[in-house]
Amino acid sequence: MRIDFDPEQFDRQGFYRLLTASVVPRPIAWVSTISAEGVANLAPHSFFNIACVAPPVLQFSAVGRKDSLRNVEETGQFVVNFAPEQLAEQINETATDFPRGVSEFDEVGVAAEPSLRVKPPRVAASPVAFECELHSTVRFGDSTVVFGRVVHAVVSQEVMTDGHPEIDKLKPLSRLGKDEWGTIGDVREISRIRHADWRGPGTRG
Ligand SMILES: Cc1cc2nc3c(=O)[nH]c(=O)nc-3n(C[C@H](O)[C@H](O)[C@H](O)COP(=O)(O)O)c2cc1C
Repeated sequence: MRIDFDPEQFDRQGFYRLLTASVVPRPIAWVSTISAEGVANLAPHSFFNIACVAPPVLQFSAVGRKDSLRNVEETGQFVVNFAPEQLAEQINETATDFPRGVSEFDEVGVAAEPSLRVKPPRVAASPVAFECELHSTVRFGDSTVVFGRVVHAVVSQEVMTDGHPEIDKLKPLSRLGKDEWGTIGDVREISRIRHADWRGPGTRG
């Protein structure tokens, strides 16, 4: 038996819970921005993904008028910092609704480092950062999807194996439903099948 849900019959919170518990696991962009006055901001966003590879474009969604969104609109720049397992507590603390003039870097005690190509600082302890210039925004109801063109990427040597970021070293966090967070768990390798090699379902041993 399957249960049907009509989004029109749900209140906002009800369908939010269904969506966020089902679209899992979501990667977490730890987004740093800076206001026109120069106050640095840091907040996690799990409505996040790659929008395009060439050119490289990342996207995240601000639900409501958050400081991160305002800062991106004011300055046209942001940094996506990778969210590793060992920084979970700090990442969660930066989701606190501090007043606009307060920097999460200072309040939570997150060490910053200068970015190379944009004004918002990077998180020094995050192993990967993508520095972005605002490409465009798209509004849906009370949410705004922010698209940013990656103008610079930086990766810590310690998480690299043979020139690539290695999953066992990155230890990514993810966001699940409710207040649940995920860690990576088992990693399987499953190679893609070219049509020329197709022998029918389940025939690759
Ligand atoms: C793991 C995690 C993921 C989150 N993802 C989002 C998101 O995708 N979009 C959003 O608007 N808020 C998200 N939030 C909530 C924001 O981080 C929170 O509202 C924060 O205060 C926004 O900060 P700002 O006003 O400084 O931008 C998330 C919170 C957590 C803990």
